[in-house]
Amino acid sequence: MVGNNTPVFFLRDPLKFPDFIHSQKKDPRTNLPDPANHYEFWSNHPQSLHQITILMSDRGIPASLRNINGYSSHTLSFWNAEGVRYWVKWHFKTNQGIKCLSAEEASRKPANFHQQDLVDAIDKGQFPGWTVKVQIMTTAEAKTYRINPFDLTKVWAHKDYPLIEIGQMELNRNVTNYFAETEQAAFSPSNLVPGIGVSPDKMLQARLLAYQDAHNYRIGANANQLPINAPIAAVNHYQRDGAMAGGSLSSGGQMNADPVNFYPNDRGESGAPVPDASVAEPPMPIEEEAWIKTYNTIDDNHYEQAGDLFRIMSAGQKEQLAGNIAGGLSQATPSVQARMLEQFALADPDYADLVKKAMGS
Ligand code: HEM
Repeated sequence: MVGNNTPVFFLRDPLKFPDFIHSQKKDPRTNLPDPANHYEFWSNHPQSLHQITILMSDRGIPASLRNINGYSSHTLSFWNAEGVRYWVKWHFKTNQGIKCLSAEEASRKPANFHQQDLVDAIDKGQFPGWTVKVQIMTTAEAKTYRINPFDLTKVWAHKDYPLIEIGQMELNRNVTNYFAETEQAAFSPSNLVPGIGVSPDKMLQARLLAYQDAHNYRIGANANQLPINAPIAAVNHYQRDGAMAGGSLSSGGQMNADPVNFYPNDRGESGAPVPDASVAEPPMPIEEEAWIKTYNTIDDNHYEQAGDLFRIMSAGQKEQLAGNIAGGLSQATPSVQARMLEQFALADPDYADLVKKAMGS
């Protein structure tokens, strides 16, 4: 699970990911954040409005890492022993409760305060926990649901798909060496166990390649042999050599000297690994236009879910949202400001009015 503390994201088309990331970069001359650029991109890209509304809300600055929820954000899948597939969204609800800071409170915190808080809590045995829940949709329902269930900018309404509790996650051990165990950790959305699969979400499809590609450069082809990344269970595959090849935990740290590094081969009977058909993923039929055409995105509604979120906020949370937006938006050009205000108004007229007021216009 390589997720986020928000249930949606700014984009649903991975081709736009580099542009989005570029728009968030610091100014090349001053090396300072450049809110004018953030809003220039967003004003041209209304599908980001839902995520902007979360980011600029009180939840945008968590009081600690223990006080945030986690989400798969993407739709993933489960398949059962009968080979039936279901679409799944994951939610990790903090047992510590959501706690947030205002921008002003956060500005008085020292650098690294999140790290300090988490390390201290675990050292004291106050292990933070999360209740793990899933939303489950059948593949038949997905074809008629009123929104595209693979659109990363949208949530599935809880009233349509209630959260089903499935377990607990606890953080109960700190690393002993931050470099070896944190900086060299290699998380990838394509590390999956049998029974859990992906979905036609295009953003997720791009991420399946991007992370391992990054690991190849960042850590090397044998990143998964490092203790922090190696599975505890035996790994039976045909990857053997490459730069910095060594042992792995499952081979007791011994060099992998298997004589065969390809499949298919004739050596199954003498112990060479063979695929286990009992846990094979069921085929995912290629639907018309890879599931996309079913959902005509031309007239897509980027505003309703952002408006729904705005409407459930308290008056204080709405003020905070408007104030956070006004701080950055007031640095943008008048044309960008006007187009952002149009987007807020489409979500909810009060949303636009509050931002206007906070900007002093
Ligand atoms: C097309 C969209 C995306 C691309 C191409 C992308 C790519 C990447 C890459 C290359 C890394 C660095 C990986 C590494 O060196 O270990 C990364 C880190 C990360 N990404 Fe994404 N990302 C995308 C969207 C997302 C989304 C939607 C989420 C959350 C739902 C997300 C969550 C993360 C997290 C949590 C990390 C840090 C992982 C760690 O600490 O090891 N990314 N991303």
